[in-house]
Amino acid sequence: MKIVGGKALQGSVEVSGAKNAALPVLVSAILANGPCTFERVPDLMDIRTLAKLLANMGMKVDFDRAANRAVLDPTSIHSQEAPYELVKTMRASVFVLGPLVAKYGQAKVSLPGGCAIGARPINYHLTGLEKLGAEIQLEEGYVLARAKRLVGNRVAFEYPSVGATENILMAAVLAKGESILENCAKEPEIVDLARALRAMGAHIEGEGTETIRVQGRDTLGSCAHQVIGDRIEAGTFLSAGFATGGAVRVNGIDSEFLEPVLVKFEEAGALIERGKEFIALQSRGRPKATDVTTLPHPGFPTDMQAQFMAAMTIADGASVITETVFENRFMHVPELTRLGSDITVRGKSAIVKGKLKLKGAPVMATDLRASASLIIAGLCAEGETTVSRIYHLDRGYERMETKLRALGADVERVSES
Ligand code: EPZ
Repeated sequence: MKIVGGKALQGSVEVSGAKNAALPVLVSAILANGPCTFERVPDLMDIRTLAKLLANMGMKVDFDRAANRAVLDPTSIHSQEAPYELVKTMRASVFVLGPLVAKYGQAKVSLPGGCAIGARPINYHLTGLEKLGAEIQLEEGYVLARAKRLVGNRVAFEYPSVGATENILMAAVLAKGESILENCAKEPEIVDLARALRAMGAHIEGEGTETIRVQGRDTLGSCAHQVIGDRIEAGTFLSAGFATGGAVRVNGIDSEFLEPVLVKFEEAGALIERGKEFIALQSRGRPKATDVTTLPHPGFPTDMQAQFMAAMTIADGASVITETVFENRFMHVPELTRLGSDITVRGKSAIVKGKLKLKGAPVMATDLRASASLIIAGLCAEGETTVSRIYHLDRGYERMETKLRALGADVERVSES
């Protein structure tokens, strides 16, 4: 991506459906017993990979990318395997484990392996399934899970993991009897998954709180469901507007989903207008240095850490940004330093001393949110910045450069060669 910085972004943009809601929601179609129609499914690399994985099991997958609609029919599923070749490219593939063993009594799913931002084990997913009566074996890099029928039980998560909460919730809806899930993750994407499951006939209470109660059913029906807006995409555009000294409105997002971030923008000096279906940000001069600590929802989201850091690189004063969710999520720091920012990492914290201005340079993306932060910094920098390895960006942002251009940005996708 080639960026010529220095312009204040202005205008409005519509966010896509949320990647981190669409992934588990599409997987949940495994549990249905007829075709499911999902609207506002973003056209992203990760969604395409998931579509391939589900089709590989025999699911009928019709993904109309232009219309952002996916129709999934699980009645033709003939395999309960998620092969390494697909899982290694998209770790959320492990979400199929719970639904497969719940519906078919067996699953063979490749372990996802490490990731740029951390080790990311799936032990909470496995202990949760064992609590519901599954037999788990690890063999040649695969998880083999078996159960005649899962049985409802109390599952208390050691940590409010998003993925483990989603996997066990999807398993519990077809288990025999009641399950009580405790210390659950409370992210809006989990609430969206519970809504999709309820549309199929599942009995769920308490999603979005620490305790979720599930009355297992013998079977579920089909459903129609619209995925929620992407709060992280919305936060990314607001960060770009703030960092460039502009005024940006994002449509198609419930401002409540992003409240932990909006209060930090206000602390840093921005004017925020909140709506049920939009958020507007107006800069008021140079951002003020502001500290953030990432935490599970409703704490400050780790998926916004890098983008907020980019805004703090040109802030007035020094900010301390502490990452508590992932152990290796400062890969963007050396690249931001190439643009002239002043950041020192000490353990889980980065001290960002704001500079008056950055200078464009070639930089390299290392993961999805790091790529977004480099684009934001490039938009602030004088001159030209090129961000390479933007395949990371395409995993989670739909038509990013088109949307940025609609806000007046000078960005262009160019081939790496
Ligand atoms: C989800 O990942 C999101 N991905 C991530 O978004 C997001 O960063 C993360 O939640 C936290 O909000 C999707 O929804 C597809 P976790 P997930 O389980 O489910 C540890 C993005 O940029 N842990 O809440 O993997 C884990 O290592 C991506 O869009 C275990 O130790 O996150 C991490 O340190 C990146 N054992 C912490 O918990 C487990 O069994 C939080 O992980 C599970 C997790």
